[in-house]
Amino acid sequence: MASEAKSSGLEGVNAADTAISHVDGEQGRLVIAGADAEQLALTATFEQAAARVLSAGGALAVDPVELATQLALARASAWEALPRLGDALDATDGMEALRAGLAHLWASGDDRADAVTAIGAAPVFVAAWSRKHRGLQPVPPTPGLDHATDYLKMTIGAPPSPAAARALGAYLVTVIDHGMNASTFTARVVTSTASDLISAVVAAVGALKGPLHGGAPGPVLDMLDAIGTPANAETWLLGELAAGRRIMGMGHRIYRVRDPRAAVLELAIKPLSTDRLALARAVETAAAKILRERKPDRPMAANVEFYTAVLLDAVGLPREQFSPTFGVGRIAGWSAHVLEQRRVGKLIRPASTYIGPMPQL
Ligand code: COA
Repeated sequence: MASEAKSSGLEGVNAADTAISHVDGEQGRLVIAGADAEQLALTATFEQAAARVLSAGGALAVDPVELATQLALARASAWEALPRLGDALDATDGMEALRAGLAHLWASGDDRADAVTAIGAAPVFVAAWSRKHRGLQPVPPTPGLDHATDYLKMTIGAPPSPAAARALGAYLVTVIDHGMNASTFTARVVTSTASDLISAVVAAVGALKGPLHGGAPGPVLDMLDAIGTPANAETWLLGELAAGRRIMGMGHRIYRVRDPRAAVLELAIKPLSTDRLALARAVETAAAKILRERKPDRPMAANVEFYTAVLLDAVGLPREQFSPTFGVGRIAGWSAHVLEQRRVGKLIRPASTYIGPMPQL
């Protein structure tokens, strides 16, 4: 591994250095491989954004058109693999189904090939799980469709409207990568042991599953449903805080201003018909005001999950599919980080601080 790092030109590079994305928590800016996330989400397809992050991670140009063809083939292979997934898709939780489904993929040892396999498999497994969960027959991928449109079609079982497919594509691009978040760190730690890409993305799904990371958008929609109308927002939110619960979709470890991805998703939602957008804006305003009064020293604003809930609901995804859909987008970022970590070739092994008793001599 040390010699790999040398030949990759990354010798001396810190394990936390990355060319894949940059999060500026003070300014509220997200840069994805040299492009502003807003710009990328509104202009690039998922395939183009995935090619971009994979190129940055692997330091090797990935052609988006070739990648689109490879991902379509990977979706078809994943569909063929469904009968070999055992009871993986019987899970009641979509993240468990995604984790168990991906765990059935064999690692070839070629990270680039395994990345395509995993990125292509994720939407097929999640859509099939979602339909089974709703008592419906899974729907196969359609050759010739782009990744986002195919995922939506496999979920809803009919050709989606172009506006819905575009909005879902914008979402998948928006969440494709986000610095050294918990699941990405997990993927890098696994890779750093010289393990394979499939193991890394399976572990990353486990990290994404938690409500403090990728599990918030379903509860955000529950919250909007419970509030019902803007006039109820303040009372409801105060009740949550009084009960010791957090406001889902608010606050972030890095951002001290509004998460820039919230604005991208708001824009992407506009062409869709949903009456939840106005309610979401009113609830966000009330939540930000209450949290500012409670914790004036710790700015807390809407994070990506707030408008994720509104967007994914508006394109027709059931709420239990929201977190796995985050995985469908982020798996491209995880894969890029696997490629990058492989080039660094250094074991990530933080030291612990022992605070227990020492043996008596
Ligand atoms: N609602 C109410 N209070 C919140 C809050 C929220 N959404 N987020 C943070 N806080 C409060 C905490 O209760 C804590 O208060 P205390 O110091 O009195 O105990 C303080 O702010 C700091 O919280 P902490 O958990 O240390 O901050 P963090 O940087 O680890 O938190 C999150 C980041 C995202 C985990 C947190 O903001 C959160 O739980 N948000 C809700 C879940 C969510 O939307 N997750 C998706 C993230 S993209």
